[in-house]
Amino acid sequence: MANDAQSPADAVRVNDLHLRLTSAAGPVHVLRGIDLRVSVGETVSVIGPSGSGKTSLLLVIAGLERPTSGSIIAAGNEITRLDEDALALFRRDNVGLVFQDFHLVPTMTAIENVALPLEFTGHDDAFARAEAQLSTVGLAARGGHYPAQLSGGEQQRVAMARAFVTEPAILLADEPTGNLDGETGRAVIDVLFEMHARRNSTLLLVTHEVSVADRCARQIHLVDGRIANDTRNAPASTAAPKAGP
Ligand SMILES: Nc1ncnc2c1ncn2[C@@H]1O[C@H](COP(=O)(O)OP(=O)(O)O)[C@@H](O)[C@H]1O
Ligand SMILES: [Mg+2]
Repeated sequence: MANDAQSPADAVRVNDLHLRLTSAAGPVHVLRGIDLRVSVGETVSVIGPSGSGKTSLLLVIAGLERPTSGSIIAAGNEITRLDEDALALFRRDNVGLVFQDFHLVPTMTAIENVALPLEFTGHDDAFARAEAQLSTVGLAARGGHYPAQLSGGEQQRVAMARAFVTEPAILLADEPTGNLDGETGRAVIDVLFEMHARRNSTLLLVTHEVSVADRCARQIHLVDGRIANDTRNAPASTAAPKAGP
């Protein structure tokens, strides 16, 4: 659908976004006027101090948290105008979300976890596609394992397979390596970028690791609910992480 507010090359467009929440200590003005335009296929890291609103920004773009005011156009949908049912469909069809703690269903095997979103969409080949997706994250042999039988890095790869098996246009990752050691974390980020490249999907990645942020083409620095800095990395730095000392 044509929309004057969004060029066809925009995956996400956020205008004057505010989020106010109420905590035990009183009202919190979490997002304070965010303006952001992300092109299709772009990789954007979101950095900033704890409490600056990084998770909240991802949640409103994912349609999981409703903003207090402002607009969000994501994958062509003005999501602030959608009712709960339409919002659930928007999420199912357009958004893949990965968290720091993997959120796998503990009573389901790896393959059952990955097949879950496909079953919601009524695919009859859900298991075949889940199997293929598990092998793209290097876990073809682990489909029958339960989350508790997998390492942290393996669980995160299952979570990514589940988030991206529906081939969403928008990939959102909130500190996906936060619970992993350095080497395991790097392998997880490799998988994330492979998935991004496979479909030219748009990636927004919250991280506190400079080496991870450097792999994105663009970096957004949130401070106190506002974008303090929006910079582009040199093209070469998107190809591979810089060698450490
Ligand atoms: N559900 C909530 N209710 C009240 N305040 C919240 C809620 N979620 C987050 N906040 C507050 O919003 C601010 C931003 O939180 P968050 O988006 O989680 O930041 P970050 O991910 O950058 O650490 C913090 O001050 C936090 O305490
Ligand atoms: Mg956070």
